[in-house]
Amino acid sequence: ASQEAQNILEAHQWLTKLYHHLLKHTKEGREALQYLEQRGLSEETIDAFQIGYAPDAKHFVVSFLEKKGFHPQTMVKAGLLSVTDENKYIDRFRGRVIFPIRNHQGKTVAFSARTLSDQKPKYINSPETEIFHKGRMLFNFDLARPHIRKMSEAVLVEGAFDAIASYQAGVQNVIATLGTALTDFQASLLRRYVDTVIICYDADSAGLEATIKAASLLKKVGCYVKIARMEQGMDPDDYIQTYGSESFQKHVIQGNITYMSFYLKYLRKQFNLQTEADRIRYIEKALDQISTVDKPVEREHYVKDLADEFELSRETLHQEIRYRRRKMG
Ligand code: GTP
Ligand code: MN
Ligand code: MN
Ligand code: MN
Ligand code: MN
Repeated sequence: ASQEAQNILEAHQWLTKLYHHLLKHTKEGREALQYLEQRGLSEETIDAFQIGYAPDAKHFVVSFLEKKGFHPQTMVKAGLLSVTDENKYIDRFRGRVIFPIRNHQGKTVAFSARTLSDQKPKYINSPETEIFHKGRMLFNFDLARPHIRKMSEAVLVEGAFDAIASYQAGVQNVIATLGTALTDFQASLLRRYVDTVIICYDADSAGLEATIKAASLLKKVGCYVKIARMEQGMDPDDYIQTYGSESFQKHVIQGNITYMSFYLKYLRKQFNLQTEADRIRYIEKALDQISTVDKPVEREHYVKDLADEFELSRETLHQEIRYRRRKMG
């Protein structure tokens, strides 16, 4: 790596320690610490994730980094400082809880900073830098990797907070994409370690759309996809706060359904199955999807449901599937 990348990496390690110290041992950090406790995080978790607090000051990080001998211009590139209209350097993260984003070796390469109030934006994240390529890393992969490897299964969530809460709740094979769409790169990376991915995105319309997209990418690289569900409006951290860790493990994670069942439920909401035309269109679309299932036993399972529901012969449905699979090659 370049000297500049080295410096940026080093600055992030210093700041991780400093922010964490401020959270745990200073008066300025007290409110943030209470906030995290109120959201259910234990001291052990706060330590494991090195969560911190950035004081509400303009030049705290500026002078800290200067004393350590880092060039302010480089620190702007690092996303740690900003430049004002008057061309002055100021701290980028102010008065926020700091979640270090660690690379796959466990080194901090970026920060995600959350407001304690209802200020907008809720999160300020580091920009892309020489050492931080958002689409090429998975949040918490360093801690989750041994668990993912052992289980050959990973749980994919949206936000850093969801990952941290899930990890604390005993779901240690959890990783997050930090609010952006899963990339090809991340999907292929995961595939090297797992057979199965359980997607547990937020139960809202954005989460639903993101689930469909992530699932199709994961299937493309050869993962078996399952979906964990929660009631409308919840995300993993809300669920754990409301119903507890055990219920999360048992009902959400272990209570997953196959991607196909999930997709068929989603699909049927788009049709009015009272009308004959829509029933036929739904069956056609459902067959398109079922045809992509590689395991014959699993295909048969969906065929049976479809045949029973719409009073069709299984043989007809299998014929349609054979036709579609031949076309797929
Ligand atoms: P909490 O209230 O802390 O639980 O957040 P949330 O559940 O509303 O987070 P959400 O599911 O909306 O977002 C998941 C991820 O998206 C976060 O971890 C952030 O990385 C990112 N994100 C959320 N809100 C913002 C925002 O306002 N700005 C930016 N840049 N990123 C955001
Ligand atoms: Mn949000
Ligand atoms: Mn969301
Ligand atoms: Mn959320
Ligand atoms: Mn949340």
